[in-house]
Amino acid sequence: MQITIYRYNPDADMRPRYETYNVDQSKISGVMLLDVLEYIKSEHDDSLAFRRSCGGGVCGSDGLNVNGKNMLACVTQISDLSDDITIRPMPGMPVIRDLIVNLEQFYKQFESVKPYLQSDSTPEREHIQMPEQRDQLDGLYECIMCACCSTACPSYWWNPDKFVGPAGLLAAARFILDSRDDKKAERLKDLDDLYRLYRCRSIMNCTTVCPKGLNPNAAIQRIREEMMDYKSKKKGSNG
Ligand code: FES
Repeated sequence: MQITIYRYNPDADMRPRYETYNVDQSKISGVMLLDVLEYIKSEHDDSLAFRRSCGGGVCGSDGLNVNGKNMLACVTQISDLSDDITIRPMPGMPVIRDLIVNLEQFYKQFESVKPYLQSDSTPEREHIQMPEQRDQLDGLYECIMCACCSTACPSYWWNPDKFVGPAGLLAAARFILDSRDDKKAERLKDLDDLYRLYRCRSIMNCTTVCPKGLNPNAAIQRIREEMMDYKSKKKGSNG
């Protein structure tokens, strides 16, 4: 198989380049794309830089763009790809080196939605939640922050400093819809902005690429619905 990889070492290269490696598939010890990268690094070029940690689709560190689509190398089977594979860093992010991108802005947007429970009360034992209230959070809490969704989103490429992006909005929905959280109104007010929430154009790349099968686009729609509900109630109470 032929693997072409984006290479860039800012200390040595004037500009990025592509390098192609011919890999004998029978020599690779595993069946995942991450095994191919490990093989290239140990047998062809130990200067190749990429992130990885858990190797099992949990830590979210090995998001890459493979043949034009974002995915996690550790859960992508080689047999699902063509014999000719091109691997690039996730798009729209500054490249630190080779396949490693700077995710600082991505984390800033995540942090901006206050992704933690804010409750006005301190119960003696625990916050009680009914099963149907807990069900509301399914599909929202499982995100592993790999950034595959936000870096596949053209709206995010254009305004990474203003648009929260699909991953951040998924986290926002997770707390807006949590029956134990008391800051729903503040959370919605914060997102009521042409860019922060409404820059989403339902392009749906986020949902297409999410390696956990989540649907950030649907989460964004739920925030919009909550926003309309909140605004109409506010209008009603103002007479
Ligand atoms: Fe942890 Fe792939 S290495 S998600």
